[in-house]
Amino acid sequence: MPVSLNVNGVDHDIDASPDTPILWAVRDHLEMTGTKFGCGLSQCGACTVHLDGQPIRSYVTPIQSAVGKKITTIEGVQSQVAKAVQQAWDDVQVPQCGYCQSGQIMSAIALLENNPAPTDDDIDAAMSGNICRCATYVRIRKAIKNAAAQL
Ligand code: FES
Repeated sequence: MPVSLNVNGVDHDIDASPDTPILWAVRDHLEMTGTKFGCGLSQCGACTVHLDGQPIRSYVTPIQSAVGKKITTIEGVQSQVAKAVQQAWDDVQVPQCGYCQSGQIMSAIALLENNPAPTDDDIDAAMSGNICRCATYVRIRKAIKNAAAQL
């Protein structure tokens, strides 16, 4: 029996087992490939999406737990905060290889939605679950501050 998911404001019936990770539902079933598979252990943050506005690790969250809730992926962010974050990411030229960046941006948006003027410690705490193998951390912090100033 299909599982009904709301992704980026659109309802979808996903023909998959209820324990399927949200990551595979959005990537394989809906062909939204902005969200990445990283470590598979909830340790790196590459698979971060929002569930009812909160950042979650989509690889370790089954689709059954998202029924009746709203999933937002990098393809669907469009709030004022999201636009400021995306502009700041462009201005600062944050990405290097880019693999981790959709997860970084999803965590940064969630941070600024909840705390419009984060301190360095706030940023470190909010972003600590997102690993960047290219070590773009200094630019990530600068971009978050630029976005906060813009807002
Ligand atoms: S930009 Fe390469 S892993 Fe973050």
